[in-house]
Amino acid sequence: MPRPATIFSCSACGRQSPKWHGQCPGCGDWNTLVEERAPAARTGGARGPDRAGPPPRPVPLRDVAVERVPRLSTGIGELDRVLGGGLVPGSLVLLGGSPGIGKSTLTNMALGHLAGAGRPTLYVSGEESAAQIRLRAERLGAAALEVPVLAETDLDTVLGVLRAEQPAACVIDSVQTLSSAALDSAPGTVAQVREVASRIADVAKRSGTAVLLVGHVTKEGALAGPRVLEHLVDCVLQFEGERERTYRTLRALKNRFGSTNDVGVFEMREQGLAEVLDASARFVGEATRAPGSVVLAAMEGSRPLLVEVQALVSPSELVPPRRVCTGLDRNRLALVLAVLGRHAGVGVGAADVFVNVVGGVRIDEPGADLAVALAVASAARGVATEPAPLGCYGEIGLTGELRSVGHPERREEEAAKFGLRTIVSPATAPTLREAVRAAVGGRERTARAA
Ligand code: TYD
Ligand code: MG
Repeated sequence: MPRPATIFSCSACGRQSPKWHGQCPGCGDWNTLVEERAPAARTGGARGPDRAGPPPRPVPLRDVAVERVPRLSTGIGELDRVLGGGLVPGSLVLLGGSPGIGKSTLTNMALGHLAGAGRPTLYVSGEESAAQIRLRAERLGAAALEVPVLAETDLDTVLGVLRAEQPAACVIDSVQTLSSAALDSAPGTVAQVREVASRIADVAKRSGTAVLLVGHVTKEGALAGPRVLEHLVDCVLQFEGERERTYRTLRALKNRFGSTNDVGVFEMREQGLAEVLDASARFVGEATRAPGSVVLAAMEGSRPLLVEVQALVSPSELVPPRRVCTGLDRNRLALVLAVLGRHAGVGVGAADVFVNVVGGVRIDEPGADLAVALAVASAARGVATEPAPLGCYGEIGLTGELRSVGHPERREEEAAKFGLRTIVSPATAPTLREAVRAAVGGRERTARAA
């Protein structure tokens, strides 16, 4: 029997190649190509022989009928909003997030609400036993216990159940644990993940089942293996936050049926995830007002959000000193510290610097630069901002200037709504030096405070 052909797939971008390369020819990452057997050619089926009859005629866009997409409400307002109004029947949603963040909790709750509304649902778990899932569901309440569960890792068995049950919504937890016996590769490899998702999509489209695929995320934050899925699915949701903290954010990275601007904020409680509708009010209310604390008027997509950013500057024994930040981009911290020292007269020298977004929220936008800078300046000088809490936003340029960022009016509105009287921004201070002076005063005030 001829040996099945071997191919190499990049675990980062999914690019396939007949030869092994140290560097992926697709995305340029190193050591990401893994060996796989090529899938056996399928016979017949959907991609079988050419159709008989004349080829279909393309239609001008103006004549294309637009159907209103029906939606299934998951009963979780923040999730529905991020999805663009609920789940679309027949669509595929990928939900990514690190282990322990609450993916199983969120999906089980969503199915529970749907089951409670009389919709047939199915929860497929390749990760946990049915008994483990039941234990979780018990915390989530009566509706969650109504969800039919299937603990299974074989793709064909799952597809069989899907065809027989035709649920309105189905969760696959997780896509990396299912595998097709037709492929030699291990579960979670690029080939398996792609096969699992595309065959489930085929069945789901036919029965109008909305499928939520749960996917794990690597340490670096990329969807492991299933990054290849981003092209295959209709919607990619990312569930983020620090596992040990209360708050989590849900955002859409791709959405064929809605915007990618919406963000949902959740809180992990004893009885599951609760929506946080007053996130700004909470974060401002909880802000410490001590040296090293400022409030960032951030934009999470199209939603303004006020979060507290804290910094600690302390003498270090280490060479090089520590630069630690949580909830923010590490590289931006290095840049902000460099500009602070060079252009704003706030050197942190050999001190350790810690910067943290309070509550475990992750902020990924250029407007956060100024908050980091002012928190560090306030911590380094040991004086609280004036007034405290002080609101701010703005990007920092390499020459020490403040650069404008998107939606200044919405940021200001949100800040005013929650009682922040003074906002330091590119509109009030053209340079970082002036912003620092406005927030913590010049050297004179610092000297008096010391
Ligand atoms: P889980 O949904 O299992 O995370 P994932 O599927 O993303 O790996 O939940 C993770 C954590 O949430 C778990 O450590 C326990 C905690 N948790 C609560 O605090 N309250 C709850 O009601 C539930 C169900 C879980
Ligand atoms: Mg889980």
